[in-house]
Amino acid sequence: MMSDIKEVLITEQELQSKVKELAEAIARDYREKDPVLVGVLNGAFVFLADLMRYLELPCTVDFVSWSSYGKDTSSSGVFRIMKDLETNVESKHVLVVEDIIDTGLTLHYLLDTIRARRPASVRVAALLDKPSRRRIEAKADYLGFQIPDAFVVGYGLDFGQQYRNLPFIGILKPDIYAGKGTPPNEME
Ligand code: IMP
Repeated sequence: MMSDIKEVLITEQELQSKVKELAEAIARDYREKDPVLVGVLNGAFVFLADLMRYLELPCTVDFVSWSSYGKDTSSSGVFRIMKDLETNVESKHVLVVEDIIDTGLTLHYLLDTIRARRPASVRVAALLDKPSRRRIEAKADYLGFQIPDAFVVGYGLDFGQQYRNLPFIGILKPDIYAGKGTPPNEME
């Protein structure tokens, strides 16, 4: 797996100390609020698992999973719920946990859906942000790292469902996805 990585962008140690820092900020803001952490599958599950363990606060967790009608979600922005929340979030404090904000379409649509259920509040914790690729306004209230426009894997993020188990964030070598049709940034 390591031989498929061009460069380690964020080390395991950097990730862990940033996630701890985010959890401390969240714990300060959510005292007495018992937030519902909403993880966006599949990419956010590693970040969410670490974030939760650093969070010294009563909280619950739930997950959503999205898919697109066409294969080109990024450009169509048409989403379908594959797995909905099991929690009734009405009057609750929701914290959406995302792996990465890229075009912003996923987050934008997800926030609309959650707001329609009348929670007490909704905020977003995102590990990574690629602002240069934004197509619609989307912003994290708690952000780990801004990164350049490169396709990254590890710490939950995948290419073709692989590399999620790497403990760091790395840039994939372009020849790994070359010849496989659509460039990764146009895929999910
Ligand atoms: P958005 O709707 O374009 O903001 O897409 C967000 C989703 O695209 C993320 O939750 C990821 O699943 C996927 N994604 C975007 N960029 C990358 C990347 O560099 N590596 C892996 N997945 C990515």
